[in-house]
Amino acid sequence: MPDTSPAIAGIAVPASHQHAPLLGDGSYQHDAGGVFRELYQAHGPIAPVLLPGRVPAWLTLDHRTLRRVTEDTVTFARNTLRWRLGPLLPSDWPLWPMLGGGQAHDCLLYAEGEAHRQRAGALSAALDAVDHGEFAARCQHISEHLLARVAPAGAAELMADYALQLPVLVMSWALGVPEEDSRDLPAHFAAMLSSGPEAISGRQRAREVVERLVARVRRRPGADVASRLAEHPLALSDRQLAEDLLVTYIAGHITTAYMIGNTAWLMLTDDRFTDTLRRGRLSVSDALHEVRWNDTPTQVFAGRITTRVTELGNYRIPAGDLVLLGLAAANTDPTLHPDPANTDPALDSAPAPASGVRDCRAYLSYSHGPHSCPRPARDLSEVMASTAIEVLLDALPGLSLACHDSQLRWAPTIWMRGLLALPVQFAPTSLSLGHPKGLPWM
Ligand code: HEM
Repeated sequence: MPDTSPAIAGIAVPASHQHAPLLGDGSYQHDAGGVFRELYQAHGPIAPVLLPGRVPAWLTLDHRTLRRVTEDTVTFARNTLRWRLGPLLPSDWPLWPMLGGGQAHDCLLYAEGEAHRQRAGALSAALDAVDHGEFAARCQHISEHLLARVAPAGAAELMADYALQLPVLVMSWALGVPEEDSRDLPAHFAAMLSSGPEAISGRQRAREVVERLVARVRRRPGADVASRLAEHPLALSDRQLAEDLLVTYIAGHITTAYMIGNTAWLMLTDDRFTDTLRRGRLSVSDALHEVRWNDTPTQVFAGRITTRVTELGNYRIPAGDLVLLGLAAANTDPTLHPDPANTDPALDSAPAPASGVRDCRAYLSYSHGPHSCPRPARDLSEVMASTAIEVLLDALPGLSLACHDSQLRWAPTIWMRGLLALPVQFAPTSLSLGHPKGLPWM
């Protein structure tokens, strides 16, 4: 449906966007996949879309175009200061927090070229040094503690009680954030992603937590990601360190939380998985794999700015335009050929088995190209998500959804797909826990 919301003064809607839909409207919230399919049918691999305030942008809709946009970092640049509409947008525009706020940031996310390569390399090295055995044990320990709080009641709300807590607590431990600060972080990040007026203050409060972390690692470095990044030969300033740690925290927390929620939801509502649950044959890795393909938490990612006039799909895109990455649309691209011989060898993927492209790892939930989610970060997110689901299914007997599937509500954001709440019921139980080492408040 064409957008009729009020325009921001000074922003003209070009002819290409006169009938474009508002990304994030009611039909998008109800069925984003349906909106992507309709757009693809009407426009091909790239479509004009409007953002709140009738702000024009472009959305990629297939696998090949997303790869082209993310690989060609010269034509599709990362620094959103290049966006020609940026100076016209008010500072409280609700999508600014995911688009850099129209301000210069000396951070990994908006760095380009060699500067980006160095910053991403330093962070990857700091994340790569995390001991996976210790990390997995910490995930297990924290998962069990979170579930022990709700187990006797026989009912829980899995997003607030579990999925939104676990990644922030585990990542806080890995990054070196003290417990007293990590407790409030889920609320700050949720506010930031809300696309509402509280988004900007949410970012500010999260930033203050990270500034305290930087002050601590300068004073007293430890065996944590923040200290390793601080000690990297790149010699990041306090400000650079805070920016890159904040990016890591934000990028890792909510994505993994929604990955856990979407996977738990799939396993509780889809017959193929509920059957295996009842028979005790749990296929957690199958469920996670399916979510990465069909229900990724990262629906749309912001974004790239064209540095020159460029032809993409059926459109000629002017320089300085915003191109959003349609990650979910790329994953469900109807043209993905089921014949594994036809998958692109340039993809960062394991070899595809004979049953088709969806059995391989060519999904784009983590994006693609030099700015995609760093490999060590993906590995940590997979440890968090698989441990969370396995502990959940082991700990709570007879787990089932406590409401009708149609009553569930999804977060009202254009960027992500994640549940606002996931109420469940199970047989009341009590979990025996070891010594709560490192979690004094639990
Ligand atoms: C299910 C979990 C996750 C998903 C789906 C995910 C997805 C993504 C996506 C789509 C991007 C943007 C790529 C682009 O602009 O092309 C990204 C970037 C990033 N992610 Fe992840 N991520 C996840 C978990 C994590 C975790 C756990 C961490 C940290 C430990 C992390 C750290 C980062 C960082 C630092 C970037 C910025 C990379 C850059 O700009 O060079 N992510 N991630």
